[in-house]
Amino acid sequence: MKRVKAIYPGSFDPPTNGHLDLIERGSKIFDELVVAILRNPEKDPLFTVNERRQMLESMTAGFDNVSIDTFNGLTVDYALRVEAQAILRGIRAISDYEYELQMALMNRKLQPGLETVFMMPAAKYSYLSSRLVREVAQLGGPVDCLVPDLVAQKLREKIDVANKFTDADGNARVELVTERKSKPRKKKS
Ligand code: PNS
Repeated sequence: MKRVKAIYPGSFDPPTNGHLDLIERGSKIFDELVVAILRNPEKDPLFTVNERRQMLESMTAGFDNVSIDTFNGLTVDYALRVEAQAILRGIRAISDYEYELQMALMNRKLQPGLETVFMMPAAKYSYLSSRLVREVAQLGGPVDCLVPDLVAQKLREKIDVANKFTDADGNARVELVTERKSKPRKKKS
């Protein structure tokens, strides 16, 4: 019997309840699902790739056909490397559609044998995005219903640390000593 393996690529900075909802749905229709975190050196993420990996691993510990991995380069190349036949992506609203369609068609151009499968998360998550979660958390709003408890806790820790080192205007509290003090001259005897 043919087994279908899919990858679910994304930034997951941080993973949200919407991502988890999609992972759960994906795990029901695919034999194997790999959640693949993009290692993007150009972005300035809130969480390191390792932190995101750990959060996703805890969140998905209950699914025995879901695993977490990281990748760089083209998504289609990664999919081929892990011998996946499909790319899973979520569509929350019409506004997602144009970008997702463009990406799916480009991926098909690059790798015609690979299918993109779109799934919709539960309607209650249709407004939810990692960017908004980061913004709400950074401005001190509650994120408890938007992300799993573990992610909410990690967000609080991150933001506490950030606040410790910056003032209300976002300026560094601690002045970094960048210049080397000149050596005191020896007194002439
Ligand atoms: O969670 P995101 O940020 O919407 O995920 C976007 C992602 C990682 C799926 C997309 O940026 C991607 O596939 N990047 C890898 C590089 C690549 O394959 N680019 C061509 C896509 S058509």
